[in-house]
Amino acid sequence: MNQIELIRAMPKAELHVHIEGTFEPELMFQIAQRNQIELPYKSVEEIKQAYNFHNLQSFLDIYYAGANVLIKEQDFYDLAWAYFEKCAEDNVIHTEMFFDPQTHTDRGVAFETVIHGLKRACDDAQTKLNISSHLIMCFLRHLSEEAAFETLEQALPYKNLIIGVGLDSSELGHPPSKFERVFAKAKAEGFLLVAHAGEEGPAEYVWEALDLLKVNRIDHGVRSEEDDVLMQRLIDEKMPLTVCPLSNLKLCVVDDMAQHNIRRLLEKGVHVTVNSDDPSYFGGYMNDNFIAIMEALNLDNDELKRLAINSFEASFISDEMKKVYIDQVNSLK
Ligand code: ADE
Ligand code: ZN
Repeated sequence: MNQIELIRAMPKAELHVHIEGTFEPELMFQIAQRNQIELPYKSVEEIKQAYNFHNLQSFLDIYYAGANVLIKEQDFYDLAWAYFEKCAEDNVIHTEMFFDPQTHTDRGVAFETVIHGLKRACDDAQTKLNISSHLIMCFLRHLSEEAAFETLEQALPYKNLIIGVGLDSSELGHPPSKFERVFAKAKAEGFLLVAHAGEEGPAEYVWEALDLLKVNRIDHGVRSEEDDVLMQRLIDEKMPLTVCPLSNLKLCVVDDMAQHNIRRLLEKGVHVTVNSDDPSYFGGYMNDNFIAIMEALNLDNDELKRLAINSFEASFISDEMKKVYIDQVNSLK
């Protein structure tokens, strides 16, 4: 099998995808029309032309504007269902997707509406597509600690539907330490923990995510390479980094895919995985991300398999299911 065939054939888990970031312009237009909400764009082409980002914030402004058209339970269902169809095409057989409740509750959409729409799509993905999934609720770090506590309170009645909590949005100026207490409460309530750190922010933010938030995984974390002591800690603890190559390119975290450090991180023994982050905005889903790094960094079949195996090892599925999927990856030639 050549590398492209292998990428397509491997079962994979996605561990870093924002469901609001899978919102394709065509569906955005359709939902805006049925909800009679005006978008600041006249056409799908005009939306796509706006997808030219120079940093994280320039993307987030457009991402939040797009999410404004999501109002009804069916909207959240349709959004997630469209993503599951992409998973099926790419042989992503398990996904742990982020959602940003505050983006919706701050506009008057009930928490219940969001979670019920997403959950119904997750159930249908399991029965109709044989794709398993978990939901991870993210706090928006540009908002206050108090607002995060309120969101955690709202989530408690749905605790059995949400496997973990995360931290996303504008990283610079909003260090993990701001959310130390809310993460401690979430942990006490039984949620698993992840946080975006070391995307635009410094290695120091990765230290804080580990030591203060006590996360199970780091989202992005590519700037960890700037700190040798941190690198050794990540390697020793087998701490997963959910790396998003096309995202890093589109948000100018790297200038060129050939300069991406995912292969170096892998060679040094860091537990890296490949993910799509906000695929509708960044030009590709899971396999596009794999293909982009394979071509730019010359990854061979063993490295590609290692990345797929890492995705299962770093996931929140049972050890038994991890073994089933890892054996499937290993059996590919
Ligand atoms: N929200 C959606 N995508 C994000 C990213 N890449 N970083 C931080 N917050 C996000
Ligand atoms: Zn992200």
